[in-house]
Amino acid sequence: MPEITFLGHAAFILGETGRETLLFDPFVTDNPLAPLSLEEIKTDYILVSHGHSDHLGDAYRIAKNNNAMIISTAEIAGQAQEKGLKAHAQHLGGRHHFPFGSVKLTLAFHGAGIPGGHACGFVIEYYGKKVYFAGDTALFGDMKLIGELDTIDLALLPIGDNFTMGIDDAVVAATFLKAKAVIPYHYNTWPVIEADPEEFKRKVEEKTASSCVVLPPGESYRF
Ligand code: NI
Ligand code: MN
Repeated sequence: MPEITFLGHAAFILGETGRETLLFDPFVTDNPLAPLSLEEIKTDYILVSHGHSDHLGDAYRIAKNNNAMIISTAEIAGQAQEKGLKAHAQHLGGRHHFPFGSVKLTLAFHGAGIPGGHACGFVIEYYGKKVYFAGDTALFGDMKLIGELDTIDLALLPIGDNFTMGIDDAVVAATFLKAKAVIPYHYNTWPVIEADPEEFKRKVEEKTASSCVVLPPGESYRF
């Protein structure tokens, strides 16, 4: 059974015993919520949603330490390749197959954090389970399409407001996505993105058929 572990802020590790590990938006150094040190993180792939420092974070160092492949937009993948790292470039709307399943880049309404680029989200198929990681984004109506085109088992949504959706917009996102389970992130890292994940959980479970799992940093959920 796949397991997802929250590493604080927007960082997650997805894996399953004996199979490849995928790391999302690895912000470890300077992340006050990080439960692991850089050296403790082992991964095969690193998915980067955009170039802001709280998402691109330590991706290049971890990629080097682990000989891991970065999967991101053409702009970030290109920058990684210039540093001699393994990277696979995709762009919005494109899906690519990998040994573990596939990765599709979705829209995300947010800054790219790198010249010429776009921010993105990801729909990941991992051994038959589908995970949507929204990245940093505003609420947008085409999230409905994401939920229609793929049957999402697990949706990861930012709730901290100010830079991304806040709780109420993220609840609307959950109604669009119709995922079996939802996990909030991008909150309580700093005072400016303070939010109560229990309020989000209560509202999601009142207004949708999804269950909501609040993960303290370092904790995992099997699905
Ligand atoms: Ni950002
Ligand atoms: Mn962010």
